[in-house]
Amino acid sequence: MRDRSIWRCQQCGFASPKPGTCPDCKRAAGELVALVEERVAPPPAARRAALAQSRPRPLRDIAMERSDRIRTGIGELDRVLGGGVVPGSLVLIGGDPGIGKSTLLLQTARALAATAPPVLYVSAEESAAQVKLRAERLGIGGDGLLLWAENDLAQVQAELDSVKPRALVIDSIQTVFLPELESAPGSVAQVRECGARLMTLAKGRDMAAFLVGHVTKEGALAGPRVLEHLVDTVLYFEGEQHHAYRVLRAVKNRFGSTNEIGVFQMADRGLVEVKNPSGFFLAERPKDAPGSVIVAGLEGTRPLLLELQALVAPASFGTPRRTVLGADYNRVCLLLAVLEKRAGVPLASQDVFVNVAGGGRVVEPAADLGVVVAAASSYMDRPVRGDVVVVGEVGLTGEVRAVTGLMARLSEAAQLGFSEAVVPQSNLIDGPRLPLQAHGVATVQAALDALLG
Ligand code: TYD
Ligand code: MG
Repeated sequence: MRDRSIWRCQQCGFASPKPGTCPDCKRAAGELVALVEERVAPPPAARRAALAQSRPRPLRDIAMERSDRIRTGIGELDRVLGGGVVPGSLVLIGGDPGIGKSTLLLQTARALAATAPPVLYVSAEESAAQVKLRAERLGIGGDGLLLWAENDLAQVQAELDSVKPRALVIDSIQTVFLPELESAPGSVAQVRECGARLMTLAKGRDMAAFLVGHVTKEGALAGPRVLEHLVDTVLYFEGEQHHAYRVLRAVKNRFGSTNEIGVFQMADRGLVEVKNPSGFFLAERPKDAPGSVIVAGLEGTRPLLLELQALVAPASFGTPRRTVLGADYNRVCLLLAVLEKRAGVPLASQDVFVNVAGGGRVVEPAADLGVVVAAASSYMDRPVRGDVVVVGEVGLTGEVRAVTGLMARLSEAAQLGFSEAVVPQSNLIDGPRLPLQAHGVATVQAALDALLG
């Protein structure tokens, strides 16, 4: 085989046998993105031989691989991974710069070094001294933990034979490179090839590998979306820079469920697990304040109580403003329209601000009713009683629709001392006994009558 060239888009990874511009990016964003030439070397002899050996086999002849998970010792991380990390798996951890990815992985490396040494931490972004400084801050001694500031992945590969790590951390995939490729570190070609190389290494050595990936402002893993398809598990580490709370979310997991979350708090000496996130979010809740409503959310299998706040105030001039933090803007606008039309709350001349307290985020429709009630409560300047939680999806005709996992939501609320709940009427038919007093409502109007009198 000879070397050949392909032309690749550096934004979305589109590959073409000819030079030109990217049709995908043009279609999506209307912009012309020039394709960049990449030399493609033939696969090395070893890989060709491995490919030739592999043959289809009957399903019953295939031996089950025992994948004993290694518990990292960080409970919130284990939960998101599905009960620990699987040897031979590749885990990508994405997140904004500065959110705490390096901190999380250094703490993970320390924990793994205790249960599955040795662990190799390759820092391609910071010098060994910088990482050491962070380790000092976290109080990490370093038994069984090897640190290496290196960004040439071929060197790392060569060293694996003598170190024989059971877990490998690459911080970050955008700064390591393979010298045989001509493109710069961080380009699509490099990231893709480095990812594929690490996958082969992890699988071949039964070594768990963690990769850090930076996320662009738009929320995509920068440039190389291809990596998401390649790896076994994709976790996102998110939160507000100026809030202490951080959420680790699984968006893909070949060895566990997605939509599971782990909650951490960034403290002075590293990330601390938050075992009781609801308590954390409700800690500063005002009592009997108009516009404040507690919603019982569910993240994966985990109930999470959050405080929704709304402030409705007369607009001084022009088009009234709608500002939303921690929830979907369009969804909130829709709910405000429902509130106006179906419950007669005149919001057309009002500014509306909606916020999830403590830097939290609501994604599920079960929080709809909470948004509606919070806005109405603020408009009427009438508080919702402090010991009531609200759950329910709201439809365009003002109906309140059933939600999933009502029992889990209400059990969490009961544990935190709530004694009453306003829930969708349709959820109450033939249900098991609920842990607190539930009041079923079928419409937004009925919910407002029940909560605001
Ligand atoms: P870092 O892990 O470097 O983020 P990333 O690798 O995602 O870019 O963490 C950066 C932030 O975390 C930085 O602003 C300082 C803060 N931090 C703490 O608040 N406490 C700590 O113990 C540590 C190590 C960092
Ligand atoms: Mg970092």
